[in-house]
Amino acid sequence: MVAAEKLACTVRGMRDLVGEDARVFDHILARMQEMACRYGYEHIEMPVLENTAIFARTLGEETDVVSKEMFSFEDRSGNALSLRPEGTASAVRALLCNKLTQTLPQRWFYYGQMFRYDRPQKGRYRQFFQFGVEYIGAKAPLSDVELIAMAHGILRGLGLSSVTLRLNSIGDKKSRQAYREKLLAYFARYRNDLSPDSQRRLEENTLRILDSKEESDQKIAEGAPSILDSLNTESRKFFDDVCQGLEQLQIPYEQDRLLVRGLDYYDHTTFEFTCPLGDGGSSIAVAGGGRYNGLVKQMGGPETPAVGLAFGIDRIMLACDRGQLKSAPIVTVLFVGEAERLNALALAEDLRSRCPFAIILPVDGDLTKRLRHSAKLGAACALILGEAECAAGQVKCKFLKPAPGSPEGSEETITAADASGFLIDKLADAISK
Ligand code: HAM
Repeated sequence: MVAAEKLACTVRGMRDLVGEDARVFDHILARMQEMACRYGYEHIEMPVLENTAIFARTLGEETDVVSKEMFSFEDRSGNALSLRPEGTASAVRALLCNKLTQTLPQRWFYYGQMFRYDRPQKGRYRQFFQFGVEYIGAKAPLSDVELIAMAHGILRGLGLSSVTLRLNSIGDKKSRQAYREKLLAYFARYRNDLSPDSQRRLEENTLRILDSKEESDQKIAEGAPSILDSLNTESRKFFDDVCQGLEQLQIPYEQDRLLVRGLDYYDHTTFEFTCPLGDGGSSIAVAGGGRYNGLVKQMGGPETPAVGLAFGIDRIMLACDRGQLKSAPIVTVLFVGEAERLNALALAEDLRSRCPFAIILPVDGDLTKRLRHSAKLGAACALILGEAECAAGQVKCKFLKPAPGSPEGSEETITAADASGFLIDKLADAISK
């Protein structure tokens, strides 16, 4: 039996988005979709439930995400399934399932819930939203630059201040093998001081120690050799080209030699955008990504270069400047008496087809109550239809917020047929850009 109090709360680490939070969420999502489309990306929709092997084999059995954080279970037929912890492996699965390896490149964006069983805290949830972008079949370093530039533009457009782009290269497979030897020799000296997880990973997956969340491991990792010194000529050139592209676009970045990212499928470029979460808190990643040239082949397809990234929408909601996010202005249409209600209904319907505003028709209470309700909704103005206005084909516009040439509380009578043009003129500044 479920305790009664459980019926009135969400599962730990999961939350509803209500009111302003939902509006901010919609706004961020709309901006991201718009920008991704402008860069030529198309929407792809993937299931939230996948075969567990898709993540276990590609993200890496030794990663925190796979070893500790997956929501996995057996279905009634005994299939091992998991709620997706991220979208890249699913996107490559979709590429293979839909037989698209011969129609490359594919530029995809997706958004939706991801699930990780981590310890919930500010900015870290068990169900969170990502907006992901995958450019599959992208070989040149310029693709990495374009993708990073898009992310930079999106974050700037959302008013995120103090965002830092951290950039690294973990090179190709050969470079990583050479680096692994050096790293192993270094960490082996501190074997007994490493956390139990890192001791276990020492031989199997040495690079993972670099992104350990344990403070003791992080201290040791600070003195570790840099992967940038182990890059072979090809990998070095690739990384230099990415840096040069970012410099050309004047996108500031910091090289972070410890940034190997928490998933195993990456090679060459890795990056994260980090930003402090208000009240002097520590920095948190609001987006991250990189190149994954080996993943399509690893999942059974042909050799296919690719690069991608994902934004954490929940974290961007915490970090963005909410005041700068404009939602569509609200206009209410009010009828004074019952005789005018059908005119009001028709006017509201007509305005919805002509104006980019939310047009609301309050129907309860008298005019005073409806005006009060309009103000509560945050309406920019109320259009009022009384007997006289209807007879003359007019409507009275009462400004509930100031507009150019019309102070708050002022009224103007206008021709009903011109109402849409009048509103667009008056509220142009409030329309989200
Ligand atoms: P990721 O770094 O694991 O990369 O996640 C991307 C973003 O999701 C993070 O930067 C963060 O903003 C957000 N995020 C991750 N975990 C949580 C959480 N528990 N609560 C709230 N937000 C979270 C990936 O998932 C890769 N698939 C990105 C990628 C795409 N690489 C190539 N293509």
